[in-house]
Amino acid sequence: MARVLLTRPVPEGGTDPILDAGHEIVLAEGPAPDLAGLVADVDGVLCMLTDRIDERVLRAGAAARLRVVSVAAVGYDNVDVAEAAALGIVVCNTPGVLDETTADLAFLLILSAGRLASDAERDLRAGRWQGWGITDHLGRDVHGTCLGLVGCGRIARAVARRAEGFGMEVLHHSRTDTGAPGYVAALPELLARSDTVSLHVPLTPSTRHLIGAEELALMKPTAVLVNTARGAVVDEAALARALEKGDIFAAGIDVYSEEPAIDPDLLAAPRTVLLPHIGSASTQTRTAMARMASQAICDVLAGRTPEHLVRA
Ligand code: GLV
Ligand code: GLV
Repeated sequence: MARVLLTRPVPEGGTDPILDAGHEIVLAEGPAPDLAGLVADVDGVLCMLTDRIDERVLRAGAAARLRVVSVAAVGYDNVDVAEAAALGIVVCNTPGVLDETTADLAFLLILSAGRLASDAERDLRAGRWQGWGITDHLGRDVHGTCLGLVGCGRIARAVARRAEGFGMEVLHHSRTDTGAPGYVAALPELLARSDTVSLHVPLTPSTRHLIGAEELALMKPTAVLVNTARGAVVDEAALARALEKGDIFAAGIDVYSEEPAIDPDLLAAPRTVLLPHIGSASTQTRTAMARMASQAICDVLAGRTPEHLVRA
């Protein structure tokens, strides 16, 4: 029997694989537990994207008996993967199970940002609605327009499938040529051609501020930017300025560079739909993510190769 640290309670049934394997679960307490202290007494950690698994935590674990860190998320920019590899600690994530749910959310933002849903609802709730007005709350059409996907992983492809139903032309950009229809080698060209740009790249040193002032300036003044990837892929201050000046039409954002803090300029920016990082937040998907992360821990502890291993 091994001991597994769970950094947050997960949806019901999410840790069944660990319990079924006969391991013991230790639940960290409070919103900001001292992970470096807690990992010294466990074989595995099931953590969230909000937990910083840095060198200090990994070394404290390696000095004891920590063998695996399993993140219940597809993005693992919160884990020092190189340090884990150097210490022989396996890192796992949960790609695949959240693709469709996250693509649903990206599409929700594509629609709600383009159609100014948040502003319109705010007016209604504030009692400012004077009745149907032919010039009121005029957004931009989504159907039949051009969607530019930055990244071409599973979530991007799931968004592309939805876009087909809306009669959209779909372009995609990635560093390596996908050979698929709609591939655009140059990011500036994709930005200039798209009516909506949706971001689907992981956060790495090369994607940090991938979309900054220069890139926003290339977008159409009628265009919408959607980010369900990681906040720091966008220069948020530049985005707030672009919205304020009308350089782009609207934005739909689910992720922020300093979560849960939100850049005050972004909060104040017009024509912006802001959601609190709920891309994968359905009961089914969050349960599936927890189960997959749990299963990976069991696999590593049993000497099996887990389905999704993160490589440094
Ligand atoms: C969510 O943002 C994830 O990476 O799973
Ligand atoms: C996630 O799995 C992605 O590839 O976008």
